[in-house]
Amino acid sequence: MKLRTRVEQPGDAPAIRRVHMAAFPGPEEADLVDALRVDPAWLPGLSLVAVDADGLVLAHALLTRLRVGEGAGLALAPVAVAPEWQRRGVGERVVRAALAAAEEAGEKLVVVLGDPGYYGRFGFTPASRHGVSGPFEVPEGVFQVLPLAAYDGSPIGSCEYPEPFGVVTSGS
Ligand SMILES: CC(C)(COP(=O)(O)OP(=O)(O)OC[C@H]1O[C@@H](n2cnc3c(N)ncnc32)[C@H](O)[C@@H]1OP(=O)(O)O)[C@@H](O)C(=O)NCCC(=O)NCCS
Repeated sequence: MKLRTRVEQPGDAPAIRRVHMAAFPGPEEADLVDALRVDPAWLPGLSLVAVDADGLVLAHALLTRLRVGEGAGLALAPVAVAPEWQRRGVGERVVRAALAAAEEAGEKLVVVLGDPGYYGRFGFTPASRHGVSGPFEVPEGVFQVLPLAAYDGSPIGSCEYPEPFGVVTSGS
């Protein structure tokens, strides 16, 4: 199957919303993406889609700005693949494209909340090992960090998510 990844373009938003609505049980992730798109945390160039030969959007991976201690990192969330395309490597392709774009942009680190069995393949390891903590109680290993080439041991500290995530952030 001919598939390619690219940065989200103007006009993709409805198709991206459809992918999230189909992949998740409720509208929360689709609503989150739409809220992030108009939030200061949105970074043009770090919202990636996988499309088929006809240009149909099959998957989406989003990186947005988050605060890590005194510095800046990226949050990978959400990631979704249209149900009929799951478990065929499409998720891996779109996540790798997003991470490559972050690397290219000189970003230092990416955090993700998710199954270590899935995200481990990209090099994510438990955030605690990097001195990074999240604003939530999750089992060890679920909150993960991927240091990028520009990572020099900082930033470390507590993560403060963009407001649309609706999580209690440090100091609040
Ligand atoms: C999770 C998701 C993004 C993975 O993308 P994908 O294209 O289906 O996965 P890939 O083909 O890249 O990788 C397949 C492997 O990923 C793992 N995997 C797939 N879905 C998984 C899930 N929900 N939980 C844990 N591991 C999963 C499995 O190891 C699978 O290998 P297997 O088929 O040999 O068992 C996709 O299945 C999806 O959109 N699921 C619903 C929404 C969701 O849960 N998003 C992630 C949280 S933000």
